[in-house]
Amino acid sequence: MDQFSAVILAAGRGTRMRSSLPKVLHPLLGVPMLDHVFQHLREAGASDVIVVVGHGSDQIREHLRDADVRVAIQDPQRGTGHALLEALDQCPPRNQTVVVVNGDLPDLDSALVKRLVEQQVSNSAALTVTCGKVDHPQGMGRIIRSADAQISKITEEADLQASEREIQEVNLGLYALDHRQVLPVLRPMVEEDLSTDDSSKEAYLTRLVECLGIAGLHCQGWDCGISSEFAQVNDRRQLAEVSRLLQTRWQNHWMDQGVTIVDPSSTWIEMGVEIGQDTTIEPHTVIRRGVVIGQRCEIGPFAHIRSGTTLEDDVIVGDFVEVNRSRMATGSKAKHLAYLGDVSVGEKANIGAGAVIANYDGTHKHGTEIGNKAFIGSGSVIVAPGSIGSEAVVAAGALVPPGRVVEPGTTVMGVPAKVREDDRNKSDQICEDEKGT
Ligand code: UD1
Ligand code: MG
Repeated sequence: MDQFSAVILAAGRGTRMRSSLPKVLHPLLGVPMLDHVFQHLREAGASDVIVVVGHGSDQIREHLRDADVRVAIQDPQRGTGHALLEALDQCPPRNQTVVVVNGDLPDLDSALVKRLVEQQVSNSAALTVTCGKVDHPQGMGRIIRSADAQISKITEEADLQASEREIQEVNLGLYALDHRQVLPVLRPMVEEDLSTDDSSKEAYLTRLVECLGIAGLHCQGWDCGISSEFAQVNDRRQLAEVSRLLQTRWQNHWMDQGVTIVDPSSTWIEMGVEIGQDTTIEPHTVIRRGVVIGQRCEIGPFAHIRSGTTLEDDVIVGDFVEVNRSRMATGSKAKHLAYLGDVSVGEKANIGAGAVIANYDGTHKHGTEIGNKAFIGSGSVIVAPGSIGSEAVVAAGALVPPGRVVEPGTTVMGVPAKVREDDRNKSDQICEDEKGT
């Protein structure tokens, strides 16, 4: 496969999002749109990635601080053609072939990118435009073909003639080009487009098609065979639609791995998670980015498993339980109405209904250790930093103050919690049902 560079156009204002957050930083399944695009380009084999930033550039640059990309600045933002010119000028591509993609295509298909590069290279084209036929072309650039079926231009929605409105073949916002052929045409095109006093005038990348034709260079419109709506994100509705599309695919992946999702439509699983075989996810459960869940776990209904959490095998997290940045060891349970923040829960420990492990003192967050087979009673509060020994019992309604060490095998009760003098009959006093055994 030929080496190629990639340019992600991410400088636009994203006006239709109506947001103070740059469009490409809006998350889908917990991952910013830009990272989805970047990941797909890497999977396709891009060896050199350039991101053009402008609107909200500080935020995007901060986000990209540790990423293996070069950043070009477009300021002011004068259209996609101008953005491409800035990329090629500021960050000369390391390969002759350059894939250019709009930053608002999080559902980009890496196999499609590979096929595009093959099309470009095998035909020695100056520019290859990826085209598709969609049911709802509104808002997209229409592909105009000449009598010999060659692409002759792309017309943006605002410039369409009445007769062109019915055209369903559109520009998908994904291109491959030979930058050495394109640059001598792109530069004068942008200069001409922006040489007016109208500061709102933009230089469209799509006008390159006409300009390359005039210069006698080979430009091809590649019908990639896509027949449904291509997943671009211009506004919040499309953000939700594309998120749903990705979510369905992601859940199907986990079901194929042996995970039961009782009601996919009310379940939300972000990217980067791991879920073991024979785990069951009950309705209305949210699993955040990067969570690791073992085998045979029971999650939900109405559970919220947040980032930084690992649930080992055979863990039960029941209804209205939130687990945040915590580890629950094999066989541990929190079956009802609990909050666990920054906790390490030992094997077979039981967290009772309504128990709260309070990790935030208003300024800092602290951790708590709960030992193997410990029993945390209903309605108790353990204020971090906490240390509950193995097989220790925190009685129902107890408040364990910060820093208190509960020794293994002892029982604490009351507010604030004190060690119970007579510990001998503790198992009789906590009924088996409350223990959740
Ligand atoms: C663009 C295409 C349209 C195509 C559609 C596919 C142009 C002129 N139109 O329209 O033919 O059908 O994508 O999704 O290219 N950007 C910059 N700098 C700018 C302006 C935009 O970097 O000055 C970036 C944006 O951040 C965005 C991308 O370019 O990621 C596309 O811009 P957008 O405004 O979404 O273009 P569309 O209207 O979707
Ligand atoms: Mg767009």
